[in-house]
Amino acid sequence: MPSLAVIGLQWGDEGKGKIIDYLAQGFDLVARYQGGPNAGHTVQYKDLRFIFHQVPSGIINPQTLCVIGAGCVIDLATLKTELSQLKDAKVDYQGRLYIDSKAHLILPYHKAIDEAREAFRTGEKIGTTLKGIGPCYEDKYARIGIRFGDLRNEELFSSKLKKNLAQKNFLLMELYNQEPLSEKKIIDEYLGYAQEFKSYMADVSELVNTAYEQGKKILFEGAQGTLLDIDFGTYPYVTASSPHAGGICTGLGIGPKRIDEILGVAKAYTTRVGNGPFPTELFDETGRILQAEGAEFGATTGRARRCGWLDAVLLRYAVKVNNVKKIIITKLDVLDRLAELKICEAYLTKKAGVVKKISIDLLSDAEVTDLEPVYLKLQGWQKTTQGARKFSELPYEARVYLETIEKLVDCEIVAVSVGKERNDIILKNSFNW
Ligand code: GDP
Ligand code: IMO
Ligand code: MG
Repeated sequence: MPSLAVIGLQWGDEGKGKIIDYLAQGFDLVARYQGGPNAGHTVQYKDLRFIFHQVPSGIINPQTLCVIGAGCVIDLATLKTELSQLKDAKVDYQGRLYIDSKAHLILPYHKAIDEAREAFRTGEKIGTTLKGIGPCYEDKYARIGIRFGDLRNEELFSSKLKKNLAQKNFLLMELYNQEPLSEKKIIDEYLGYAQEFKSYMADVSELVNTAYEQGKKILFEGAQGTLLDIDFGTYPYVTASSPHAGGICTGLGIGPKRIDEILGVAKAYTTRVGNGPFPTELFDETGRILQAEGAEFGATTGRARRCGWLDAVLLRYAVKVNNVKKIIITKLDVLDRLAELKICEAYLTKKAGVVKKISIDLLSDAEVTDLEPVYLKLQGWQKTTQGARKFSELPYEARVYLETIEKLVDCEIVAVSVGKERNDIILKNSFNW
């Protein structure tokens, strides 16, 4: 099986980074296909701990080539910091990291607009990561974006930047009442990056396709999650890219038949950082326990993540849009303390009674008041699961919890993560990567 995708099935932060790092041990190439530094992927192996925003999460595996596709957006300042952290930790990434010259650059004005716009919004803030993601993708689709490859030509870069900055400064000053950004400062900074990062520039589509033809093992690393997808997520409370499996093709320039298997990753419960509907959100002591036990703070922004029960209705939806048959459940250990567990198996709606399936566009703020989760109650295990390395070592109630998820979402759970560290994982025999 040459290629495998790892996709978040919820609102991000499912533990994709950990799973990618684990899997990367057996892969030749790890490719990010969408998103940018809004991602925060935590990897922990022995005394190494990183939160990757730009760099693919396979990088600490010395044999992997890591690539960032054209569908991603790049903040070179973040990349610089991340590379220096890797260097400090003596991780040798030289010759193992490539970025598509067609990937769009996040420029200081994108971040300034993201911040100004969020501040300007009254009542309906998205709660973005303020990393400039939306404004950067907007420019891409408005056909005024500046791409990584534009840094090859200093004059071209400077002239594009000048044109854009004139418009952006107008917006910042006239609409958002902000200070204008300095053209010289940005140009100087980015022409410095042009030198620093030119050796990372590549045609990633060509690189990935060739690797595939050579039978190399390729891992596609999803960022964010299906419910944050620009089209198939809980719009408008979504990100600006396509985290779902379809994004792999458009983000990397490969054909759909080159995605051989798709693995979905879901937490044993649900979290969401930022605003937007969340039917199973808990505001009580259980929610606080999940938040504390799961250390649920955003890896990118440090914001406390909202916590709630597992939502099998939304999980079934995410499984369908990605065509997932196999899933990994992470953070099972976070539930260890709870005496009783709940899984949302349906919604009770005023209009249609009990429904097991909903259209994602109905999960808007207005409709969410008409959606009451119908819960299946299960017994907790109240024992530690962290040291378990086989399914048979899990408490009986934990196995029942997992089997219930399998039935509710009609997928096989091929692995369960029971701790932060790379090897805190239980694999089924059918996990053959
Ligand atoms: P990602 O964005 O999907 O890569 O996930 P994040 O890294 O943002 O968030 C997952 C958090 O949970 C990180 O702090 C991980 O170290 C941690 N984590 C991952 N898997 C497990 C697990 O099985 N148990 C526990 N307790 N923590 C985990
Ligand atoms: P990883 O890859 C969780 C959320 C933000 C906000 C919305 C839009 O670590 O799972 P954006 O800055 O993208 O315009 O914000 O999306 N968001 C994430 N939430 N994990 C992420 O990435 C996220 N990336 C963006 O909180 O609600
Ligand atoms: Mg994250």
